[in-house]
Amino acid sequence: MKLFLDTADVQEIRQAADWGVLDGVTTNPTLVAKSGRPHQEVIEEICQLVDGPVSAEVVSVDAEGIVAEARELASIHPNVVVKVPAIREGLKAVRRLSEEGIRCNVTLVFQPLQALLAAKVGAYFVSPFVDRMNRVGEEGFRVVEQIKRIFDHYQFETQILVASVRSPLTVLQAALAGADACTMPFEVLAMLYQHPMTDLGLEAFLKDAARIPGGVSAPVH
Ligand code: G3P
Repeated sequence: MKLFLDTADVQEIRQAADWGVLDGVTTNPTLVAKSGRPHQEVIEEICQLVDGPVSAEVVSVDAEGIVAEARELASIHPNVVVKVPAIREGLKAVRRLSEEGIRCNVTLVFQPLQALLAAKVGAYFVSPFVDRMNRVGEEGFRVVEQIKRIFDHYQFETQILVASVRSPLTVLQAALAGADACTMPFEVLAMLYQHPMTDLGLEAFLKDAARIPGGVSAPVH
């Protein structure tokens, strides 16, 4: 499963890229607004930092406007994937864009049939918003499992990108469901590296290693 950061903060992206597991980045208008920087500038910089798909979202809600915006965004860098909302006009635009070779990430998906429609129009990614579903008492991971079954049945090439992730548990559920990618805030990615038993175990090993006559490592000649 590919691991993406859901952020427009370039410092976070730089740090995660340095850890060696970062496969891509997703953004949305809320995250870009939070960065306080112009959209195009921030997407350009992110594309320099990560060698993988970088999702940038349109704000038009009519097919013509979405197509025009998507072309602009896609011209920033070959790794840009255009995020388009799962509305009728959005899916109409995705059909045209995918025929042009522009990759689209259909976002704001809360229902497996929205994912089916997105796959039929040639979406590259489909983004179910798992923890936003959990917050309203729906079982987000079940939607991911259902999308996976539908895509497997019909051999769609559209990839499942689990989004709206608030905890490592959702990342685990995404991996168990066989999602292709999972995007998460920096804090959640950082949490994947933490386990108190690992820290305690390491502390004990280091303490005991200090008592080994001559140390542990073979002498360097
Ligand atoms: O990529 C989807 C994401 O940006 C939405 O996440 O955390 O605002 O629900 P969140």
